[in-house]
Amino acid sequence: MSELNRESRLKLLGLWPQWTLRPEFARTADAAEENIRAGEVVALPEPVPVADASAKADSQGVIADGRESIMQMEWEELTRTICQCRQCGLSQTRTQAVPGAGDRQADWLVVGEAPGADEDASGEPFVGQAGKLLDSMLAAIGLARGNGVYIANVLKCRPPGNRNPQEDEIVACEPYLARQIELIRPRIILAVGKFAAQWLLDSDKPVGALRGKIHFFNEIPVVVTYHPAYLLRSPTEKARAWEDLCLAQDALKQTNPPLREDNR
Ligand code: URA
Repeated sequence: MSELNRESRLKLLGLWPQWTLRPEFARTADAAEENIRAGEVVALPEPVPVADASAKADSQGVIADGRESIMQMEWEELTRTICQCRQCGLSQTRTQAVPGAGDRQADWLVVGEAPGADEDASGEPFVGQAGKLLDSMLAAIGLARGNGVYIANVLKCRPPGNRNPQEDEIVACEPYLARQIELIRPRIILAVGKFAAQWLLDSDKPVGALRGKIHFFNEIPVVVTYHPAYLLRSPTEKARAWEDLCLAQDALKQTNPPLREDNR
């Protein structure tokens, strides 16, 4: 754990010297969310299996038995399958897939939306401006990517022009994230932004309505916060993101230590 003091942590988040909201910005979270998100909320579909046979990816990257097969995969095969995936149209427009990165034994799993242009070019999640802010948010609570943290997205390929993920793309991609969560078995999941939160919680509520409490995904605590790209556009919301990070830290303290290789 880093030795950063509170002032340094708040500076990293851009919240120092004054990190509480000034009265003129002190709108309720839901009101702010409604203003900004008006018309943007989409209901995600029930996850359904991609297909239901028994062979793995063919030479075209199409997986005949979809979810069932993916849920048996270990890391190497899972990563290779994601990189070769042709389950949806994004495979036609991507430069490369972005499977995820970090510590595969992490306590913390950060789930974002989808790769953007920088991630599509590099193959790494959250490497653009939003990624830099995410790194600062993690540093503020003594974390660093790759060290106790794994970062993944709901979609593994970039939607063209950074448009929102479509339902069919989320359905096609969801077994990958589901399997990553099973393999990592994190002690806390931080859902950044609407698409991660709605997928993990099977909800159509906006971030403003989901943040501020501890939810669960397969018994793993989930804390919802704003997407760093949104925080770049609305820096006054960083104070709320800081509260969410603190809530996630508290949630993790309440969970039992994970059973790792040596004591599984
Ligand atoms: N935004 C995301 O949600 N994920 C990334 O990897 C990059 C930007």
